Amino acid sequence: MRRPLALSNWKMAMTLAQAWAFIRDFLPRVADLVDQVEIVICPPYTAIHAVAEALRGTGIDVGGQDLWPGPGEAHTGAVSGPLLADAGATWVMVGHWEIRRRLGEDDAAVHWKVRAAFDAGLRPILLVGEPHGEPFDPDRLATLLARCASEEVAQMAFVYEPEGAIGRAEPVPPEHAAAGCRAIRRWIAERFGKPVAEAIRIIYGGSVTPEHAAALLADPDVDGLGASRRGRDPAAFAEIVRQIAESRGR
Ligand code: PGA
Repeated sequence: MRRPLALSNWKMAMTLAQAWAFIRDFLPRVADLVDQVEIVICPPYTAIHAVAEALRGTGIDVGGQDLWPGPGEAHTGAVSGPLLADAGATWVMVGHWEIRRRLGEDDAAVHWKVRAAFDAGLRPILLVGEPHGEPFDPDRLATLLARCASEEVAQMAFVYEPEGAIGRAEPVPPEHAAAGCRAIRRWIAERFGKPVAEAIRIIYGGSVTPEHAAALLADPDVDGLGASRRGRDPAAFAEIVRQIAESRGR
C-alpha cells in the first residue's frame, strides 16, 4: 500500500518568524499522523535550513521549490541541488506553472531539473498538468522523464496540477482531479512498468482546502494533496493531513 503524501508549498511567503510559528502550531496537530502520511514542506530558500533544523527528528521532510540545473557557480541568484541538499532539503519541486511561466520553461527544461535533482541526491516532486484552456496530455511525460530510469521514477512523487486550478476559490471537481492522477499513473505503467506505477505517489494540487479534501481523496488514484495558501495555515494544513490519513484508513 502506498503511503499517502501531503505537500505544502510556501511559495514566496513566510519569514523565519512565521516559519517557526507555523511549526510550533502544526507539529502537535499532526503528531499522531506522521506515521500514516508523508509530509513534505517546501519553504522559500531563505527558510529551508531553519525549517529543516526545526523539523529534525519529526519525520517531516523539507523540499526546495525549484533548482537551477546548470553546472558551475556563475549563476547569480540561482540555487543548485547540492546547495538545497546542504541546507537540509531531501526533495525538490520541479515544473510548477508559476516558475515555467516566469522563466519561459518548456518540458525539456523541466526535464533537466529532474536530472539535476537526481544528481544532487534529491527526490524530485514533478508537477504536471494542463496549461490554461487546453486538455491534459500525459504524453508530455515522455519529454519530462526522457532520461530517467525506472528505479529513478520510482523515487519520484507527482502532482497533477492544472494551471487554471491554482489560486482559485475552489479546486477542480474531484472527477477531474482523479482523471488527471489516473492518466499519469497509466502513462507511467506503460512506459516504466506496473510495479513502478503502483509504487509512486500521485497527488492533486490547486486550490485545495480542508472542506474539499475528502471529496478529492475519494478516488484511490489520488494519493494525497498539495496546498499553498492552505499549506501555510497550520490548522488548515493539519486538517488536510488528517483527511488524507482518514481517506486511506477507510
Ligand atoms: P494554492 O496553490 O493551493 O494556493 O491554490 C497551489 C499551487 O500553486 O501549487
